Amino acid sequence: MGILDGKAGLVTGGGRGIGRGHCLELAAQGMAVVVNDVDGDEAQAVVDEITAAGGTAAASDDDIGTRAGCEALVERCASEFGRVDAVINNAGIVRDRTLLKMTDEEFDDVYRIHVKGTFWCGQAGALRMRDQGEGGSIVNTTSGAQMGNFGQTNYAGSKGAIASMTYTWALELARLGIRVNAIAPSATTRMTAQARDPKTGKAADSGRFLDPQLNSPMVAYLCSDEGSWITGQILAVGGDRLGITVQPRYGDTLLMPGGWDVDAIREKFRAAFRARLENFGLAKRPYPFYDGLAPRKD
Ligand SMILES: NC(=O)c1ccc[n+]([C@@H]2O[C@H](COP(=O)([O-])OP(=O)(O)OC[C@H]3O[C@@H](n4cnc5c(N)ncnc54)[C@H](O)[C@@H]3O)[C@@H](O)[C@H]2O)c1
Repeated sequence: MGILDGKAGLVTGGGRGIGRGHCLELAAQGMAVVVNDVDGDEAQAVVDEITAAGGTAAASDDDIGTRAGCEALVERCASEFGRVDAVINNAGIVRDRTLLKMTDEEFDDVYRIHVKGTFWCGQAGALRMRDQGEGGSIVNTTSGAQMGNFGQTNYAGSKGAIASMTYTWALELARLGIRVNAIAPSATTRMTAQARDPKTGKAADSGRFLDPQLNSPMVAYLCSDEGSWITGQILAVGGDRLGITVQPRYGDTLLMPGGWDVDAIREKFRAAFRARLENFGLAKRPYPFYDGLAPRKD
């Protein structure tokens, strides 16, 4: 008996890394899983692993970087298993480069697979769940990079968009009983092996192995009926951590009857907020710019 007995769902990018871990965990918990990966051989290998362990799975090599691929994937889950209870948007790629050097192609490739793939699969899955009338669970995949990460304009921007879509869908789909959350995972995978320090060009891998499958129990819980109280959240998972994410919100606000002109801003803003701006970026340190920014000589 698993917590997902009788449910069916799909995992994009399930042939490797974190997605593979999700497929194995969801199947072990009783879900019938469509293992999707544009690399069909890897998807089939995960299906073989699941069926050898007594689980239920089917492979899909649909490209989730297209609307047709996402719609076919959701349809495959429905036709193969009769229903769609969970959509796990996990597939992703990186094409790291700093803003000053990034090409349109690098930007568009990352945006299409992360943002549009999540949009297309999420929409097709939500339509199916609406028609079933029994609710469901969508789990998107964002990253700490959404907070800002050197060399990742395309990836960080896409992950930020996925976080904002997660909040928006959670608002829109609550009345249908569809929960929408995201994970910000952490694992040693092919993706992290590709990571390069954008300044030195050398491998950025920390050397510490993080088992991809350790991201997956929380995904299983989010897909279970027991997880029905959770929506609109980004869960930080991976390794030994399990955390919630602080929700973005407006901070302290000054009011000026009639509105602010430049002189009023000059007079009040720095006095009120000096020493109170928060630093930004994935690796947060105290805010370093109170004395102003100027072009560096190096
Ligand atoms: N590894 C980490 O530490 C980490 C951290 C934060 C976020 N993430 C996110 O987790 C997710 C999984 O990353 P990973 O580290 O397992 O990467 P990975 O490269 O090991 O696996 C990604 C899989 O997605 C598949 N894929 C790529 N494009 C596809 C497409 N168009 N259609 C179908 N499948 C496609 C790939 O073939 C691959 O098997 C990604 O969204 C990534 O951004 C990973």
